[in-house]
Amino acid sequence: MSTTITITGAGGQIGYALLFRIAAGDLLGPDEKVRLRLLEIPQGIGAAEGAALELQDGAFGLLEHVEVSDDAAVGFDGCDLALLVGARPRGPGMERGDLLAANGGIFGPQGAAIAANASPDVRVTVVGNPANTNALIAAASADGVPSSRFTALTRLDENRARAQLAQTLAVPVDTVRRVPIWGNHSATQFPDVSHATVAGRPASEALEAIVGDVPAWLDSTFIPRVAKRGAEIIEVRGSSSVASAASATLDHVRDWVHGTDDWTSAGVVSQGQYGVPEGLVCSFPVQSIDGEWQVVEGLEVSDWARQRIEASVAELVEERDAVTALGLL
Ligand code: NAD
Ligand code: LMR
Repeated sequence: MSTTITITGAGGQIGYALLFRIAAGDLLGPDEKVRLRLLEIPQGIGAAEGAALELQDGAFGLLEHVEVSDDAAVGFDGCDLALLVGARPRGPGMERGDLLAANGGIFGPQGAAIAANASPDVRVTVVGNPANTNALIAAASADGVPSSRFTALTRLDENRARAQLAQTLAVPVDTVRRVPIWGNHSATQFPDVSHATVAGRPASEALEAIVGDVPAWLDSTFIPRVAKRGAEIIEVRGSSSVASAASATLDHVRDWVHGTDDWTSAGVVSQGQYGVPEGLVCSFPVQSIDGEWQVVEGLEVSDWARQRIEASVAELVEERDAVTALGLL
């Protein structure tokens, strides 16, 4: 048995960071063979073919087959896991939503090609920005594929939030848990520390001892730092995040396939949980159980948190209206 994985935009930066880690077993483990399908547009085919040559030269024991194509029917043929990365990145001074007009048109045809060609239980992870609304477009175009099979990556935001909290508390990052992201993968996102734990104990007391006024620190320091980290990376390195984005993509898909033992974050199609309008692709605290993402329900949400979540959800509604007006939905 082997798993067929399609990576769109495989000739781009994140694609290049993903391919070799997948071939090395970092996604599905050391026992699962992989078949890679690299889907590009004609301008990116050379870069993808070059990556395919390097994959061959890596002599990865788990890598059964690599195919490069600019035809979506070939690219998604028999695909079990689809990583939709191919899309333009933003530049300095842009918000991710500014990419809607440029990138939205990619995801309808890809959703349709997935429905027509992928394996029936395909799992789709949208990385290309604006990821939530692109996932919404892809899901809406994939007749016959359950919308629960379409997700948007917000794990990078969660990883950033956990890392910032760990740095503040001077603890190892893997001891920090339950820091979910709510809403959009954008500057309005809400990284939520209210349920955070450190080594199994509530983080709140430790946080207060270090930062003093926790609500003020969240408003002025933590939330903006996490929500604007993508822009910070662009400013410092000159182009958007690559290796951390690839790593978070692997975290997301690995947890989806293998399950979680605690909460994490993913953009999933809302069924109306926490008042989020049905059908929006919204980030929630989730667990992966029996291969399905399930929203963690029944959490206490303060008025302050609810306002933040509602602001991000309002932006998702605006994006949905904008792509509807563009004829993409
Ligand atoms: P890049 O420009 O290096 O690569 C994008 C690749 O996509 C290019 O090779 C291009 O030819 C290809 N492409 C464009 N349209 C395509 C299509 N229709 N089908 C297949 N391939 C196509 O960009 P990158 O740095 O790899 O970033 C890719 C996307 O990921 C951007 O939209 C970026 O904003 C986004 N991103 C999202 C997250 C997240 O957390 N969700 C994190 C980082 C980056
Ligand atoms: C990120 O969060 O790093 C990506 O979405 C890229 C960006 O435009 O910020």
